[in-house]
Amino acid sequence: MAGHDSMKVSLIDPRERRTPAEFVAALRQLKEWVGLTYRQIALRAQENGDHLARSTIAAALERDRLPRQRVVTAMVRACGEDPRPWIEARRRIAAATALGPAHPKLRSALLPVGSNALVGRTEVSDRLVRLVGSADSGASVTALTGPAGVGKSALAIQVAHRLRGRFPGGCLYVNLQGSVSGVPPLRSDELANRLAAELEGRPQESAEGVEAATRLLALLADRQILVVCDDVRSADQFESLLPLGRQATVLVTTRTARAVPAGARLLSLRPLALDDAVALLAEELGRERVSREEEELARLANLCGRLPLLLHAAGRRLAARPAWRIGALADRLDDGHRGLDELCMSGIDVRARLMASLELVDRSSVRVLAALGQTGSAEAPLSALADALGRDETDAMLALEELLDAHLVDSPEPGRYRIAAAYRWLMRDICRPQDGSW
Ligand SMILES: Nc1ncnc2c1ncn2[C@@H]1O[C@H](COP(=O)(O)OP(=O)(O)OP(=O)(O)O)[C@@H](O)[C@H]1O
Ligand SMILES: [Mg+2]
Repeated sequence: MAGHDSMKVSLIDPRERRTPAEFVAALRQLKEWVGLTYRQIALRAQENGDHLARSTIAAALERDRLPRQRVVTAMVRACGEDPRPWIEARRRIAAATALGPAHPKLRSALLPVGSNALVGRTEVSDRLVRLVGSADSGASVTALTGPAGVGKSALAIQVAHRLRGRFPGGCLYVNLQGSVSGVPPLRSDELANRLAAELEGRPQESAEGVEAATRLLALLADRQILVVCDDVRSADQFESLLPLGRQATVLVTTRTARAVPAGARLLSLRPLALDDAVALLAEELGRERVSREEEELARLANLCGRLPLLLHAAGRRLAARPAWRIGALADRLDDGHRGLDELCMSGIDVRARLMASLELVDRSSVRVLAALGQTGSAEAPLSALADALGRDETDAMLALEELLDAHLVDSPEPGRYRIAAAYRWLMRDICRPQDGSW
């Protein structure tokens, strides 16, 4: 077997390859070119003192992911070629794959249609770009909080796209499943394993606890990277990212302010301004239909809490019922008992999305929410609520503040709390009619 120096780059030049799939295709071509079977390659590798099982070669050539460096070296050497340009190309592709444009997790399919034109979010998008983009030394966390369906994920993904150039080490997106009913939130070591696998372009391993975090730290040693941790329930889910020193910038979205670690920057995403909420509905319904019922459109937008999720659901429901008046749907939502059914009939499971927020707070706080849902008006002062619950004010206040942090209620001023229409519908749905308890 010839030594390295006498080896030459074959007709198949790995240096021209740009993606993991192209790289693997080049390896397959190399195998074709030298005309060796898997078994023969494995035997030659053994002669070279490399350990390379036949099944490993087969698996590596069947996938469109970068094989491990050890596998590439052994295989290329067994084919009689110089592994060095292959290793160099592999490194370059691995680094570039973690970068924005080619990164699979940030492919445009993840973005909502027309996300570059999110309605009414220009200013807050610019602010978030500045906050995240200016994160300099130290592991820096920026958290975007807000109620279910307000558009946190959509905005975070848009901002990550806008910031791709700022993070040469890559932009990675992970859904931490903090508020998906029936699905356990992703753990910190699972997050670390997933990110490590993405960065190395190989299947996920199941290292645990400190081991997973340590491996990730080593991998990130000299990368400037942005990690989007979408839908976090608690800060311990991403603690493996916190000791990252200067490298990592973390953008978190969460429904609950209590998941935001001390020292993080916090941005609360508010529902859309009325004009923008109306514009979103108008986009779904068409100008003509909308122009006949402008007032009703505004009423509908407000009933939807000016939340994009609910607005889309209402828009879809009406788009599927072209003969209906807009006001007729608003009336049905206003009725209070059927509101969520109406929106769910759009095919968007609004109820499940809202229900998941109830898991973020203590059960006793859910009872307070139910009491608020039973009050005739949408807004109640603390004293009235405490009376209704037969609790003292401090007790009621602690529960209400927890609900406020989870964006289940809103508070226009200290001591006054307001429940959004959608949660009033939800609480009426799930409360037992006999005693109003949950
Ligand atoms: N500004 C906007 N303009 C148009 N559509 C939007 C806007 N913001 C969000 N949407 C759409 O509304 C829906 C809800 O948004 P998104 O999923 O981002 O909400 P979220 O705050 O992340 O909710 P959750 O707390 O459930 O994760 C999505 O379909 C999204 O594409
Ligand atoms: Mg989300």
